[in-house]
Amino acid sequence: MGPERSRRQAADGLTGSSFLSMWRELEAIGRHPGAGGYRRFAWTGADADCRDWFRGEAEARGLLLELDRNGNQWAWLGDPSAGDAVVTGSHLDSVPDGGAFDGPLGVVSSFAALDELRGRNARFTKPLAIVNFGDEEGARFGLACVGSRLTAGELTVEQAHRLTDADGITLPQAMEAAGHDPDAIGPDPERLARIGAFVELHVEQGRALDLSGDQVGVASAIWPHGRWRFDFRGEANHAGTTRLVDRRDPMLSYAETVLAARREAQLAGAVATFGKISVEPNGVNAIPSLVRGWLDSRAADQATLDMVVHGIEKAAREYADAHGIHLDVVRESFTPVVEFEHALRDEIARLLGKGDGGKGAHLNVPVLGTGAGHDAGILSGSIPTAMLFVRNPTGVSHSPAEYAAEDDCVAGVTALADVLEGLACK
Ligand code: GLV
Ligand code: MN
Ligand code: MN
Repeated sequence: MGPERSRRQAADGLTGSSFLSMWRELEAIGRHPGAGGYRRFAWTGADADCRDWFRGEAEARGLLLELDRNGNQWAWLGDPSAGDAVVTGSHLDSVPDGGAFDGPLGVVSSFAALDELRGRNARFTKPLAIVNFGDEEGARFGLACVGSRLTAGELTVEQAHRLTDADGITLPQAMEAAGHDPDAIGPDPERLARIGAFVELHVEQGRALDLSGDQVGVASAIWPHGRWRFDFRGEANHAGTTRLVDRRDPMLSYAETVLAARREAQLAGAVATFGKISVEPNGVNAIPSLVRGWLDSRAADQATLDMVVHGIEKAAREYADAHGIHLDVVRESFTPVVEFEHALRDEIARLLGKGDGGKGAHLNVPVLGTGAGHDAGILSGSIPTAMLFVRNPTGVSHSPAEYAAEDDCVAGVTALADVLEGLACK
C-alpha cells in the first residue's frame, strides 16, 4: 500500500481502515523472505494460517463459520438454509512466489464490504456469505480450482484422490495431514442450491482498466484454457563423453517445442506458456533421460485453442521423431469458455451506476473479458455468477510485483458493498 494512506482514510473512513487493518494482518502470512512473493499452497502450514485468519475475521463479526466437505470456508450472516443467498469471496492460496492481491483482495474486500454495509445500517433481506475457496491456483497438485470443482461436481472423487504433488504426497494424504477428512469430499449440490448469486471481486490481471482510466470493471467472459503435460523421453548419458551424434537428448525437442508454442500462439492471437519443467536425472553433467514440461494455453474461443494446442503437439512430435525421443502428451485439465450470466452482469452494472450518490459516476462501468481462470467461472455452470475487477496499473500478476493502489482497493470495496446491498437488501 502506498503513502497516500492517510488521505485515503480521511476520505473513505471506516471502509479504508477496515480494509487496511485486515490487509496488514494477512500480508505477512506465507510470504517468502527471500523471494518476497507468496507460497500459500493448499493444505500446507501457510494455508492453515490463512484459514485461521479467515476464521478470526468471521468470528470477530459474529458470522457463522462452516467448513464444507471440500475444505472451502464459509462465513454466514443470516440463515444458510433460507435459500437465495448472496455469496461473495475468492481464495487465499497462491501460485509459487505469487502476489499479494490475486485472491486475498476478494476475500478481504468481502469482509470490508460487510463492515461498510453495517456502517450504512443496511437491512439484509437475504442471507449473505463470504467464502474462501480452497486450492484455487492448483500450485501444489497441478489442477486449479479444486475446491469449487469438487463442489460443482466437475472433478470426481476418484480424480481428486489421484492428484499428487511434486514430493509424491497425494491430495488425500495432504488433506488428512491438515486435519481434513479426504473421504468426505465430493459434489455438494445442496450447498449450491442455497445460493442465488455469487459475486467474486478480483484484482485485474491485465491493463484494461488502467488504459480506460477506471477503478472498477465487471467481467464478461473467461477464455477457455487448459494444462497439458509433455513428457519427452530420451537416454541419460555422460555430458562429456557422448558424441553429439550419439545423443538422444530430450531437452532439444523440448526447447524446440517451447519456440513452437510461442509461434503457434502468436499466429492465432492466443497465449501459450511453458512455465514449469522437471528434468531427470537433473544433473549438470548428464544428458537428461526425461524432460517434462507443462503447457498452459488459452484463447478467446475453443476452436482457436484447439488449433493452437494441436499445432504445438504436431510440432513437438516432429522434433521428437527427429531426435529419437519418445513423446507422450496428456491433457491434465480443461476449462471451457465462460460467459457470465447477462442478467446478473447487467444488474451489477446498473447498481454500480447508482453507486456515487446517484450521480451515475459508474454508469459506463467497463465490461471486460479475461484470460485468467477463477472459481466464479467454475461455479457459473451451476449458479448465477459475476465478477468485479479492480484496476492493476501494471497488469502484472502471478508475481510479487502484482499491485493495486489503495484508492482503487477501497473503490473496489465500495463497489462490492453497493452490489451486495442491491442484491441482498432489496
Ligand atoms: C489462475 O489464476 C489461472 O488463471 O491460472
Ligand atoms: Mn491466479
Ligand atoms: Mn485468483
